[in-house]
Amino acid sequence: MKTTFILLLTTALFVSCKKEEPKSELYPEAAETQTPMDLGKEIFNGKGNCFACHREDQKVIGPSIQEIAKTYKAKKGNLVQFLKENADPLVDPSQYDAMKVNLQLTKTFSEEELKGLEAYIYSF
Ligand code: HEC
Repeated sequence: MKTTFILLLTTALFVSCKKEEPKSELYPEAAETQTPMDLGKEIFNGKGNCFACHREDQKVIGPSIQEIAKTYKAKKGNLVQFLKENADPLVDPSQYDAMKVNLQLTKTFSEEELKGLEAYIYSF
């Protein structure tokens, strides 16, 4: 009796597991789709620590992300080159020294990561 019960239970579990499978196969890459913007956001608030000085819509230590986006779009700046220390500051050159320190970190980022940061900032 006990054995039959366990056997039934195991079968039931097995069947229910099997039924779930096709569902996850429908969206195999769902967990992995990360747009450049997502990557940029993750770095901005994570290992880049950019959030410490840049907020979305207000100046803290550095200009807001909105202001950076506005200036770069208006002046057709190259954000990736700036973060590689290959381009001069366009937003607030008088405060450049405070930002320059961070370029030592952003210079170590991959092209993909820098493009992500650019996409994230340009989304504002
Ligand atoms: C210690 C504070 C601080 C941190 C951390 C910081 N920034 Fe800045 N950032 C500034 C200041 C101050 C300015 C204004 C000076 C300037 O325009 O270069 C600035 C300016 C900028 C600009 C505009 C540059 C220009 O052309 O004038 C960009 C783009 C930028 N930061 C991106 C970033 C990114 C991306 C990170 C994270 C990897 C980051 N910042 C981290 C302080 C900081």
